[in-house]
Amino acid sequence: MMDVAAPSLAPHAGAGHKPRAGDPCAFVIFGAAGDLTKRLLLPALYNLCAAALLPEDFAVVGVARADGTDDEFRRQMADALRQFATGGVDAHTLDDLIERCYYAHGDFDDPATYDRLKVRLRDIGRSNGTRDNCLFYLATPPNLFGPITCHLGDAGLAEASEGCWRRLIVEKPFGFDLASASALNKELLRCFPENQIFRIDHYLGKETVQNIMVLRFANGMFEPIWNRDHIDHVQITVAETVSVENRGKLYDRTGALRDMVPNHLFQLLALTAMEPPSHFEADAVRSEKLKAIEAIRPLSEADVWSDVVRGQYAAGRVKGKMVPAYREAPGVARDSVTETYVAMRLAIDNWRWAGVPFYLRTGKSLAARKTEIAVRFRSAPLALFRDMPVENLAQNLLVLRIQPDEGAALHFNAKIPGPEVRIENVRMNFKYEDYFDAAPSTGYETLIYDCMTGDPMLFQRAVDIEAGWRVVDPILAAWREAGGRDLRTYPAGSEGPAPAQNLLAADNRQWRVIA
Ligand code: BG6
Repeated sequence: MMDVAAPSLAPHAGAGHKPRAGDPCAFVIFGAAGDLTKRLLLPALYNLCAAALLPEDFAVVGVARADGTDDEFRRQMADALRQFATGGVDAHTLDDLIERCYYAHGDFDDPATYDRLKVRLRDIGRSNGTRDNCLFYLATPPNLFGPITCHLGDAGLAEASEGCWRRLIVEKPFGFDLASASALNKELLRCFPENQIFRIDHYLGKETVQNIMVLRFANGMFEPIWNRDHIDHVQITVAETVSVENRGKLYDRTGALRDMVPNHLFQLLALTAMEPPSHFEADAVRSEKLKAIEAIRPLSEADVWSDVVRGQYAAGRVKGKMVPAYREAPGVARDSVTETYVAMRLAIDNWRWAGVPFYLRTGKSLAARKTEIAVRFRSAPLALFRDMPVENLAQNLLVLRIQPDEGAALHFNAKIPGPEVRIENVRMNFKYEDYFDAAPSTGYETLIYDCMTGDPMLFQRAVDIEAGWRVVDPILAAWREAGGRDLRTYPAGSEGPAPAQNLLAADNRQWRVIA
């Protein structure tokens, strides 16, 4: 997986290692007329095609409600690619992909749609040699995940057989809380077995996120000090400058906690906190990540009030541009108490992390776009330089920059040249762009490729999804009880609400500055 897809999209890295193309298959997209298909899925398929990672025997089958023909669909997809491809569009690659696109229309609630699709897939399979292997991608609103899956099952489209696989890719959001996520899991599992379901968390498609395990487990120097004896605390930040834009209606029912925490932030936490897996294999890795999430100390209601802060942005300037208050956004209730920011302190109750707080924060309309994991090490044990004019004996810090400016930096103390012993904090800085010539990508390439080759390592199992919700459920319950009592506002373009600073100040620590 990781050693396969990345080099292919970064032609100069890993020279000499040629990854195999995905298995022959039909890539069936439910919701083919939607934004996700145009902005991400087709551009990702294009990049895979350009990198010779699509199988020769391949077809894209778009399914949507509106009437339409293959030719019309091909034209729409070609237009989308010209608009959203991550790099220049090469005519040969474009034709190669577009001529393998087909369209099947129908109402997602109507069993006849699936009967027709079955016949269509068989015909396409005969002409394109896809061997009846099918990847069903649910790029639809979440209320359709269950019904579409059941219809696929009823039509016999979920059945794998000797030499023919059927896989289901489910987008986020996966549930609304623990109960709805479990109910959805049950519904999907009635029709597809767990090993055929690929639940996407697009953060796992990011190279920098995949690199966390490589940094920790392919180097000898980090792991011996990666524990409570040497680490003071960990800060995980996913700060965005974007506001809710045109997603107000959906976002107002979701909020920052549901939108980002049980999925993206917990994936970052799990990769940082997990034990080394016994081998580099999907279940070994996922089970170690799961154990880390399961070790998060459950929050009581009192913990929610002391350890979790929620905020909502008021009007302000983001990067010099005026942003109206969240409550003014289209689709958002004028008296909304939905949070656009959340920060929390979590404890991980295991031998490695006991006593090491993990501080998490995420929010929209903040001062800068920055996703990072900052690992703060304990101070040097001896105040050897106590009597010297030492201004700043900082704790060592390792910062994994997930995006933008992908890389990692190690902060440590160094002597300022001169006759006096004076010390300053300096930085060793690794930037991806200095080493790797990776082509721009959508972040979906590796995920799609892994589905085609059947590697589920970067996907969530039912238990993984439910473990994330189990941690945040008490927060949702306490907030529900409180109405908006504890909700704080913060000016758009700021570092977030003031009480979030207190979370760390109370522990004699401080957040890293976002901008
Ligand atoms: C999505 C959330 O899952 O992730 C969005 O629904 C958020 O609200 C997005 O903006 C962030 O993803 P990225 O890749 O831009 O960090």
